[in-house]
Amino acid sequence: MRIVVLTGAGISAESGLATFRASDGLWEDHRIEDVASPEGFAADPALVHDFYNMRRTRAAQAQPNDAHRALARLAQVHDLTLVTQNVDDLHERGGSPQVIHMHGALSGALCAACDARWPAPQLMYPGDACPVCAAKATRPDIVWFGEMPYHLDRIWPALEQADLFAAIGTSGQVYPAAGFAQHASRLGVECIELNLDSSANARDFDHRITGPASVTVPAWVQGLVAQT
Ligand code: APR
Repeated sequence: MRIVVLTGAGISAESGLATFRASDGLWEDHRIEDVASPEGFAADPALVHDFYNMRRTRAAQAQPNDAHRALARLAQVHDLTLVTQNVDDLHERGGSPQVIHMHGALSGALCAACDARWPAPQLMYPGDACPVCAAKATRPDIVWFGEMPYHLDRIWPALEQADLFAAIGTSGQVYPAAGFAQHASRLGVECIELNLDSSANARDFDHRITGPASVTVPAWVQGLVAQT
């Protein structure tokens, strides 16, 4: 079976990483435009680096949970395209062989001047020079608001050819990812949502499994493995 899975911050919540829109979430403590936009970075690069240094440190200390590991198992038995909005590497450390990071990754650094990319150090600072062009325009390789998500040229075709689309732990408020279910559904692709609460685009899904990802995802994967 061809399956596309989209994950969001909810899948890493039980690994101890804060989601964005929960009452104690990242966007409660930080204004989105200050830390997640090109304009915010231009205004205060130190603040932005601090925010991502903090998140990089927390992600390095976190461990994958049973939901991440279950998706690695799913890839062994079905044709899985795993797309994540998350910038942590818990899918990789949970054993998933291929992960499409549509919003970038904390592990990456990007030169805003020449577009060079290289592995990010644990801590980044505004004065860091690009190893290619030497410009002091080094930023995290994260897709910010107002920027185009990565790998859409691979994601849309995978969705269109899928037998099943699943969204796990995402609030359905940020496009284009929030539009994947509607797009797939219009083409007749079965859509399922696994979430703790109701998402903003719940109506686009045929099925819903409510509960914590570390419980619901392994059970759902077990059912799909049993079908093979
Ligand atoms: N199991 C399953 N779902 C959970 C869990 C859990 N243990 N904990 C929280 N959730 C759900 C919440 O109910 C919510 O619907 O995960 C979702 C998290 O939503 P957001 O915080 O909005 O995160 P996400 O959807 O990934 O955000 C999308 O927005 O801020 C930007 O670029 C950032 O990639 C991010 C994008």
